[in-house]
Amino acid sequence: MATQRILVSNAKGGCGKTTIATNIASYYASIGKVVRLFDYDSQGSSIHWNNRRSEQYAEISVVDAARRSGNHMTRSWQMRVPPETDLVVIDTAAGIDGTELAAMLQENDLLIIPVLPSPMDIQATAYFIKDVLLLGKARKKQIRIAVVANRVRKNTLMYHALERFLFTLKLPFVTSFRDTQFYIKAIEQGIGILDIKTSKNRIDHEQWAPLIRWMEIRAANKEAQIRPLFGQQVS
Ligand SMILES: Nc1ncnc2c1ncn2[C@@H]1O[C@H](COP(=O)(O)OP(=O)(O)O)[C@@H](O)[C@H]1O
Ligand SMILES: [Mg+2]
Repeated sequence: MATQRILVSNAKGGCGKTTIATNIASYYASIGKVVRLFDYDSQGSSIHWNNRRSEQYAEISVVDAARRSGNHMTRSWQMRVPPETDLVVIDTAAGIDGTELAAMLQENDLLIIPVLPSPMDIQATAYFIKDVLLLGKARKKQIRIAVVANRVRKNTLMYHALERFLFTLKLPFVTSFRDTQFYIKAIEQGIGILDIKTSKNRIDHEQWAPLIRWMEIRAANKEAQIRPLFGQQVS
């Protein structure tokens, strides 16, 4: 089967790109897929995450894509995707510029945009989405886009503002992830939140299920159901 390529991006820093990229990578590795995670952030958060991963978990190849190697051959070797790769996940840096974004939109199948429920984040994300849609017009290949709300606390005014904003976009708002220490624990241990299985984080498994379903839809014309969040429990 062809390699699936998933881009996790938003020009805004701190919205959860690395959290979501590492969680996607570890989930697919845990079900036996060959996963390659490209870290485009010079801070190397995904690389550090993988360095903390113990051998009991399925191996993930993490590529330091931000490192500008002087040796062209070395860089193209480093950036290669071996044919046996099932899944490529791209963790981008904050402040990604138009040129870089346009190139990434050409190369990838899916784009996941995390957004936090804060006024500044909503505004920055609106600009980012505008850029994506403009640049996307020039793309040769269909790319499917989903927005995911992150660090959501129930019944906050900002959460409702975010919800309204997302529903005005004609993009699928696939799920929302609650704000929880389990994400921080997972990052510290080089694992994903789905590797943690306790009654206290069953809700996180439930919140990931719609995104996993959306990622598995292969055909571009079969769009995922937009899931209203009113009925979803976020605690
Ligand atoms: N759902 C969440 N609950 C709690 N903490 C989170 C959640 N998502 C992200 N974080 C924390 O927020 C910070 C920024 O997240 P990160 O994934 O590094 O963002 P980005 O890669 O977009 O800069 C990190 O410290 C991360 O552990
Ligand atoms: Mg990051």
